[in-house]
Amino acid sequence: MLLSFLFFSVLCLVQTKSIIEPCTSSFSCPSLLSYLLPWDSKLSEIATRFNVNVSDILAANYVYPITTTTSYANEILRAKSIVKIPIACPCVDGIRRSMSTIYTVQPSDTLATISDGFGGLVSGEQIKNVNSINPTNPLVNGGKIVIPLPCSCLNNVNNGGNVVYMSYVVQKGESLGSIAMVYGTTVSDMKTVNGIAEAAVDPGDILSVPISACSSAPLNWYNESLIVPNGSYALTATNCIKCTCAPLDLKMQCNPSGLDVPCYNLHCKGSNLLIGDVHVEHSKTGCNVTQCVYRGHRGGKILSSMMNSSYLMCPGI
Ligand SMILES: *[C@@H]1O[C@H](CO)[C@@H](O)[C@H](O)[C@H]1NC(C)=O
Ligand SMILES: *[C@@H]1O[C@H](CO)[C@@H](O)[C@H](O)[C@H]1NC(C)=O
Ligand SMILES: *[C@@H]1O[C@H](CO)[C@@H](O)[C@H](O)[C@H]1NC(C)=O
Ligand SMILES: *[C@@H]1O[C@H](CO)[C@@H](O)[C@H](O)[C@H]1NC(C)=O
Ligand SMILES: *[C@@H]1O[C@H](CO)[C@@H](O)[C@H](O)[C@H]1NC(C)=O
Repeated sequence: MLLSFLFFSVLCLVQTKSIIEPCTSSFSCPSLLSYLLPWDSKLSEIATRFNVNVSDILAANYVYPITTTTSYANEILRAKSIVKIPIACPCVDGIRRSMSTIYTVQPSDTLATISDGFGGLVSGEQIKNVNSINPTNPLVNGGKIVIPLPCSCLNNVNNGGNVVYMSYVVQKGESLGSIAMVYGTTVSDMKTVNGIAEAAVDPGDILSVPISACSSAPLNWYNESLIVPNGSYALTATNCIKCTCAPLDLKMQCNPSGLDVPCYNLHCKGSNLLIGDVHVEHSKTGCNVTQCVYRGHRGGKILSSMMNSSYLMCPGI
């Protein structure tokens, strides 16, 4: 009895903290992983490793493609850089986690080296459990295993504001305060979100960091909704429209992407304003502002409409 209690305590001591969000719905939400590169890697290798598109990684890190993504795929990122990886966060067996990353075992891999390759976002123990790795079912070179990755949705809300949650592996020398500062949140928010009473965190703990985001919900879009974290952009309407999240007021701003794809209906009807363009008319009393705004897309057609507002003060003056 005492022995098993001691054993349990030791297990608890070595176990790292990580948020577990129970769930019931089949709906999945957008989320991010903060990936600290364990070694120099090509962008295409990172994309393959996490089963995401290069273009989606570029968007999550606000790197805007000038022509195509091909030139970026071979870009080498240095070890210890941090890359945000966008992943869908579904509900799997009652817990929020991503199970869509499949890894092919390499010669000389161990559970520990595979965990390192994913920047500590998953532990060797978790890989072992999910894949039922044991002496009769060992890791074999060329074998395919599922990599469970941590994520949370929490309704994409924090303190009444829109957020996207990012899974973050605590590094040596970091504290809740230092992490909160970098990502524009607070220690008390981090404690609440992660359900921890104490501010102390240890290297290897996985925290859920709320990243402020812009939502299309107040914009009245037809047949589309989008949530874009601060510091990211999103391409929509078959890559014709790029939406960004203004860092100050967290308002979504959508403009033509300028990418080399065929796009129609980029002007508001009966106007020479492009989507995102603003026309300011001065008067004695102030200004009238007319803007052509994106309203979603339907059946390959881009929707837009004019918005008017009167200002006493003219913007930009
Ligand atoms: C990746 O991009 C391709 C082509 O642009 C698209 O068809 C596919 O749905 C994308 N995959 C993901 C996971 O976003
Ligand atoms: C898309 O819009 C049409 C017409 O406005 C509506 O009938 C349909 O339910 C919408 N579909 C979705 C998925 O929102
Ligand atoms: C958005 O990100 C920028 C740059 O990281 C930061 O300065 C700003 O405070 C953030 N805005 C919000 C509302 O979190
Ligand atoms: C601005 O809009 C208001 C209300 O629609 C209108 O009364 C006013 O004449 C407009 N001013 C100009 C300069 O267009
Ligand atoms: C916006 O203002 C313009 C010019 O004043 C007017 O022609 C147009 O009908 C207005 N549109 C809306 C939606 O109010």
